Amino acid sequence: MATRIDDVSETVSFTFEDQEIKTREGDTIAAALVMAGQQHLRNSVVSGEPRGLFCMMGTCFECLVEIDGMPNVQACRTRVREGMSVRRQKSEVIEQ
Ligand code: FES
Repeated sequence: MATRIDDVSETVSFTFEDQEIKTREGDTIAAALVMAGQQHLRNSVVSGEPRGLFCMMGTCFECLVEIDGMPNVQACRTRVREGMSVRRQKSEVIEQ
């Protein structure tokens, strides 16, 4: 289970799928979503199955989300900003 090492920073709030989430200033979106219990960030373009965080360091691209209407943003490499709107990445399943 994830826990915070300290809690001395200012609080920042943003929304994920219209749900307000409060977190620490400087947290990544991925860290904030983990702490909020959110694990489903996008769907596989191959199977449509839910996908979520994996590497947490910018190499797997499993954490793609849509931020303020911009798709394909890595949640693990993007810091939370006050008032940002984060949504699950919407993708069409590719027929094979
Ligand atoms: S969790 Fe792997 S790139 Fe973000």
